[in-house]
Amino acid sequence: MGPDPALLHTPVLLDDVVAALAPALASGIAGNRVLDCTLGLGGHALALAQAGAVIVGIDRDGDARALAEQRFHAAGCADRLSVIPATFADAVEDLVTRGERFAGVLADLGVSSLQLDRPERGFSWRADDVAPDMRMGDGCPESALELMARLSEADLADVIFRYGEERLSRRVARAIKKAMAADALKTNANLAEVVRAAIPGHHPRHPAMRTFQALRIAVNDELGQLERLLAALPRLVAPGGRAALISFHSLEDRAVKQALRSGLQAGIWDDVARKVVTASEAEQAANPRSGPAKLRWASRAMHAPMPSTRTPPPYFPL
Ligand SMILES: C[S@@+](CC[C@H](N)C(=O)[O-])C[C@H]1O[C@@H](n2cnc3c(N)ncnc32)[C@H](O)[C@@H]1O
Repeated sequence: MGPDPALLHTPVLLDDVVAALAPALASGIAGNRVLDCTLGLGGHALALAQAGAVIVGIDRDGDARALAEQRFHAAGCADRLSVIPATFADAVEDLVTRGERFAGVLADLGVSSLQLDRPERGFSWRADDVAPDMRMGDGCPESALELMARLSEADLADVIFRYGEERLSRRVARAIKKAMAADALKTNANLAEVVRAAIPGHHPRHPAMRTFQALRIAVNDELGQLERLLAALPRLVAPGGRAALISFHSLEDRAVKQALRSGLQAGIWDDVARKVVTASEAEQAANPRSGPAKLRWASRAMHAPMPSTRTPPPYFPL
């Protein structure tokens, strides 16, 4: 018996997600199937299954998939979950090719607490005995350490600026490259210290957090993955179905907002969330990781044209 998945990750905006997808489940379309693109520990998926959905869950992280299956089994819902081990970009393109349609599509983007909190996964800036890794799982060709070694100082600064919104990105990139050349950057704690030393002054949060976020986004090609999901979304959601997407930083939210808005204008969606849904003060107090979460949903028009062009990428591939 492994750890209890419910204790490893608290799903954010749980009631809001169920409410956003409920109208599609009530109408019984597409066999009530919901595609959870980010199954994680199965928190959202289990609540949706208990609301009548049959879940197809994608995750690139093998540990997460095993724990989600364990959770569904313990809840007596094992027959309501099938799992696809892949990145969601690859999986949704394959599902579209096969003409699969879903009543609901959910994406709860980013990393899980399981990934962040396990030092051996190499995400935490506190870890002093692991090399910077930050790979969520399948489909990540290189670790954060390998990425930092491969990129030129200027490209590394670009990554840190764009994905971490770090104003002192050039200074940080220079310090990282210098430490690597001196063979002094071996662990996450080394990396955090190098970044801290490059950024003067006092900071409410550890000054390396922006750089860690940037490296994680780049290592996992998070914006490229999202762009491919958004391009496939209109073909994945059955007429009358719904999509719900939770993002955790402004680059993701901007891409989601633009895709849903242009789909509304094209008549693909007949309704989208007027206002972004965020966590209540009570939820934020109970689960600080819900603070930056932004949920947007859209409902698929019954008779909709298909998009003829892909939205331009909101990111720059490395
Ligand atoms: C925030 S967690 C999801 C938590 C889940 N909603 C729950 O309630 O337990 C995000 C999960 O999505 C997975 N993930 C993130 N990006 C992915 C991608 N591009 N392809 C497949 N899985 C991805 C991560 O491995 C992680 O397990």
